[in-house]
This record gives sequence, C-alpha cells and structure tokens, in this order.
Amino acid sequence: MERIRILLRKSLRFGAHKYIKLVESNGCHKRAGIDLVMEMQKRSEKKRRGRSCVDLFSGAGGLAVGFRKAGWNILAANDIDEDAALTFRQNFPETTFFLGPIAKLKAKDLLAECNINKGELDCLIGGPPCQSFSYNNHQRSANDARARLFEDYLRLVRELAPKTLIMENVPGILTIDNGSVVRVIASKLSRLGYAVSVKLLSAEQFGAPQIRRRAFIVATRVGDSNELLPIPSHGISRDTSEENRAYINKHDRKTPSRKKLVTIQQAIGDLPRLENGGGKHVRKMPSKRPTTQYQRNARKGATALYNHVCRNLSEVMLERMKYVPEGGNWRDIPRRLLTEGMKRARSSDHTKRYGRLSRKGLSATLLTKCDPHWGAYVHPTQNRTISVREAARIQGFPDEFQFAGESISKQYAQVGNAVPIPLAQALGEAALKHLRRSERKQRSATFIRSSVVTKRKRAA
Ligand SMILES: C[S@@+](CC[C@H](N)C(=O)[O-])C[C@H]1O[C@@H](n2cnc3c(N)ncnc32)[C@H](O)[C@@H]1O
Repeated sequence: MERIRILLRKSLRFGAHKYIKLVESNGCHKRAGIDLVMEMQKRSEKKRRGRSCVDLFSGAGGLAVGFRKAGWNILAANDIDEDAALTFRQNFPETTFFLGPIAKLKAKDLLAECNINKGELDCLIGGPPCQSFSYNNHQRSANDARARLFEDYLRLVRELAPKTLIMENVPGILTIDNGSVVRVIASKLSRLGYAVSVKLLSAEQFGAPQIRRRAFIVATRVGDSNELLPIPSHGISRDTSEENRAYINKHDRKTPSRKKLVTIQQAIGDLPRLENGGGKHVRKMPSKRPTTQYQRNARKGATALYNHVCRNLSEVMLERMKYVPEGGNWRDIPRRLLTEGMKRARSSDHTKRYGRLSRKGLSATLLTKCDPHWGAYVHPTQNRTISVREAARIQGFPDEFQFAGESISKQYAQVGNAVPIPLAQALGEAALKHLRRSERKQRSATFIRSSVVTKRKRAA
C-alpha cells in the first residue's frame, strides 16, 4: 500500500487558495511527486521567448502544448483541478499556475504576473468545461451552473482585453437552446470590439489519429477573425449533420492536396506489450525502433517512457472482450455476457461501446473514462485497455509529457479532456500568422499616413 502524504502550502499569490501539493509515496508516484516539486523550483526561472499567451481552464495543458509547439510563450494558466495542476506545472515550469476556481482569478494578478498592461496580451486560450453542453449529458441545459463559467471567462476578456482569443468546446454548444449560448457569447464579444468566428474543427484533419470534432469560438480585435481558423492538412471532409454544416471550416473545400489520415498503428504500434492492468509509470524507452514519422515525432526529447500503464479490467469484462474483433463492438459479444441494460439496447445503438480499436482505423473521440462500457478503449491486438501513454499518443501528446495524479483514472481524465495537440498547434500557428499580418497592415498604414503628412508639409 502506498503511503501518500500531502503537504499543502499556502501562497498569497492566489488569494488564500493557491496550494502546492507535494505527493510523497513509495514507488513511481514518489518519483513523480518529488521530481515535480524539485524540478519546478529548479527550472521556474527559465524564461521563454515568443508571443504572450494565457491559458484558462488549462487542464493538463493540451491546448498549451500545441501553442508552445507553435512558438507561443504560455505566461500563466489556471485550473481548479489539483491533479491537472500537478501535470501542468511539471510540464510547464516556465508558466505561473493559478490553482483555484476561475471566479476568484483576478485580471490584475494575471497582468502583474505576466508583466504586461491591459490590451497587450496576444492571445487568451481556454475551453470552459464542456459537460453541461455535451451530447453525453442527457440533462444538458443552458442554465446549468457550469454555463456561468462563460461569464467569468468573458469578465477576464473585458479586463485583460487580449488581442485575440480562442475558446474550445464540445459541438453540443452550437445547438443547445437553438444556438442561443453561442449567439450570446458572440454578441458579448462583439460589444467588446471583437470580430468573431465560430467553426467546428475535426482533429483527424490536422493529423491526430482520432475522430474528434470540437467547436471553436475565435475572436480578434486586430483584424479578420476567419484568419484564426486553421486550414485542415489531412484527410477529406467528413459528412456532417445539417445543423452543424454551417460551422464546418469554409477552407475545407479549398485544400485538395492533403496528407493521409494517421492510423492507430502508425501512432501506437511501437509501444511495448502489456498485460491487463499492467505497466509502469516510468520505464526505459522501448528498444523497438519507431517505424513511422508520427512515432518518431512523438519520441523526440523523451528520455524514458512515462505512463505506459493500463486499467485493470474485471474477469467478466475480459471474457466479453475476447469476442470482440478489431474494429468490433458490443454486438460481437454473446448476449449472455452483456449487462441487463445492454441486453435491452437496439443493435443500431451505442456503436462505440465495448469497442476494440482497429490498427488501420482511427480512434473514436477519447472521453475522460477509459472504460469499455462507454467507448472503444480496447487495444487492437491485446486483451487490455489502451494505456495512459497510448491514449496520450492518440491525442498527440509528445512522449516527454508526463501525467501526474494519484490514480490512473485521473491521468486518463486529463488526457481525455485535452485538445489534441496537432489541432492545438495548427490553431497556434494560425493565430501567429494572423497577428503578424495585422501588424504588417498596421505598419504600412502608419507609413502611408506619415508619407502623406510629409508630402503635405513639403507642399505647404
Ligand atoms: C475540457 S477541460 C480543458 C482541457 C484543456 N484545454 C486541454 O487542452 O488540456 C476543462 C477544465 O476546466 C476545469 N474547470 C472546471 N471548473 C473550473 C472552475 N470553476 N475554475 C477553473 N477551472 C475549472 C476542469 O478542471 C478542466 O480541467
């Protein structure tokens, strides 16, 4: 049994609510916990260059990793979840982390921490929690308390006045109450002087081996908001429902030379075999060489293989999964082995449940619970769930990114919550280009104005 000692240290930076949590235990968690704090202290002075960015509702930092890869400097981040905060701090020692509810986060603290004035922040990124809008939540409602988190987000937009902003959410946000949530957010942003665009973007079209569609509300007060929407680089457009069609990226039709979609085998095929419930939090890099560009990119900078651990499935679950072939699902399982609820399901329903990934295919959207009852989480050729590392690869996290947290369910949740890195990076690159373009325009407008003034002076 692991002995876990939690020390809470109060810091004045975030009211009285900023805590640094030290986890001390035997085994791998000990390494993760102690390294975390030591590394944070050692490297916190490291300074990065790049455009300024603040990440709200940061989670473990999927969106932030993509932005950092694109060349952004993540100056500060905020989240309420202690495990996600541990992960974020460990992987972003150069970033100030505010742990606590967004309601208590003050713009003046953020500005002071980032050493900038109102109006100088280049980009505010962040996805308020999506459960209240998710199709997976049958009682979704625009009045849900969680919907009010948008109000806090908008308060910070008003007080920070970032040049651009990028909000991520589940597609359900576009249709809830006939789209009123998005209309309200867009009209509040335009009253604050922003041009706003809303689009659905698909992670697989940016090189993630996962079909994951997310809604993005992007806004700028320095130009055309459509420039903030990245152009897909992979695959072909997938058909979509009538109501969502208006939000599909208009550039989709303009990019004929896209790369092939990335498959599960290309993404995780080099990772070592595991038994059900097996694996280690830290082990040496596999001797098997990477065979694809995706695997080579994932391994860059990694000195060990972290979080290659998988969930322990019960005997009955293992028995069920023996019947499910690659790409199959609950319909392949003999009726006698199904739960009472699933016995009543129509065969056209729940097509992802008890699913087994296919090597040549893509993963369905990873959710926060790595439970075969809810989705396709079983390894293509081994009788076990995918490991935290395999899930992270499917989300595009680099192997050097380590997930912290007291249990592997918390780690799976951080992975499942994240914006896939290839999509986040494409958003970061588009935002950089947009800012450069707007500055060029501003410079040439200033140049034209000053030469007109000079000519007039000469003429006078
Ligand atoms: C969808 S996740 C964000 C994922 C993240 N953008 C990424 O790419 O990894 C939403 C996050 O909002 C955080 N959250 C929920 N309620 C919050 C609150 N009141 N204040 C701050 N963060 C909150 C959750 O802990 C969760 O990590």
